[in-house]
Amino acid sequence: MSLKQAYEPYFKIGTSVSWRNLESEQAKDELKKHYSSITAENGMKPMFYLDKEANQANPEKYKSEPALKFDIPRKFLDFAKENGLALRGHVLVWHNQTPFWFFKENYEDDMEAPWADKETMLARMEHMIKGVLTFVQTEYPGLVYAWDVVNEAVEEREEQGWRQRSGWYQTIGEEFLLYAFRFARKYAAEGVKLFYNDYNTMLPFKRDFICENILKPLVAEGLVDGMGMQSHLVLGAHSLVDYEKALHRYGSFGLEVQITELDIHVTDPSEKGMKELADAYGELFRILLRAKKEGKANVTSVTFWGMKDDESWLTGFRREKSYPMLFDDNYGEKAAYHAVIKAVEEV
Ligand code: GLA
Repeated sequence: MSLKQAYEPYFKIGTSVSWRNLESEQAKDELKKHYSSITAENGMKPMFYLDKEANQANPEKYKSEPALKFDIPRKFLDFAKENGLALRGHVLVWHNQTPFWFFKENYEDDMEAPWADKETMLARMEHMIKGVLTFVQTEYPGLVYAWDVVNEAVEEREEQGWRQRSGWYQTIGEEFLLYAFRFARKYAAEGVKLFYNDYNTMLPFKRDFICENILKPLVAEGLVDGMGMQSHLVLGAHSLVDYEKALHRYGSFGLEVQITELDIHVTDPSEKGMKELADAYGELFRILLRAKKEGKANVTSVTFWGMKDDESWLTGFRREKSYPMLFDDNYGEKAAYHAVIKAVEEV
């Protein structure tokens, strides 16, 4: 029984995909076996579709209508299409992996150069969103079922609120979020679902901030279809009780919920460590299945952030070897894999 078969009655099962994966026959086989959806780990982030060379060569011409290029996104879109996989679009408006020159008046590489003004940035935002959505929808109709329209607009500490250091916030102010969704709604094809996506979305203060300041106003204008819970978890550090509460809160808006970047950091590869990891994954999937079955949250897809341990970003990010995935370095099924499969029978 593969992951996607086990979960077929409930939600899509996805994984992030790297450049390396696209070139590996083994990865391709695993992708086709276990997953029904992919997300480009990096290749569809703004830094890969904003055309630095063209914009900097002719900043006057492209001032309000930035030049875009799609050679890299195309690789992931082609791959999904050729292999019968659905694709989560990640990402349109984000502070990170969006080059800082994009926010500068004349696209300068110079940190000291003046920011573009609000009107210009709104025009750039609209043009970028329109361009990306139109490209994808024209060349790959029906392939992308959801977009992370805005990623990570909220800070991670209680008193902080909006992420004010973001170039989007700096140039447009907090309304950047509303505008991003307005533009996305304007250009998205029918049926393409628009998501707000963030990490640590189970923390009560962050959950409340998102519900109050992001989802409520977006729902009021009919601009959002779903909440993305990234779910980069750390074994033992995150409360799954809080996780379940947050899932139900987001679900109570009548929105879809997608788990968009799931992994659970753990440094102990012993049988004991891997059993603890399996228990956490089992519990998490029981929470997701219960929510779905009881109508507490309409979970529509669950995406792992990587297919196997040695490819996880966590080892680099945490600076310690991590064993966070369902499959070991050789795609071997770990206890966590079996726990996730078993969860289906337990709920
Ligand atoms: C965030 C982003 C992802 C990715 C991860 C780390 O969660 O949304 O695109 O960059 O960080 O890999």
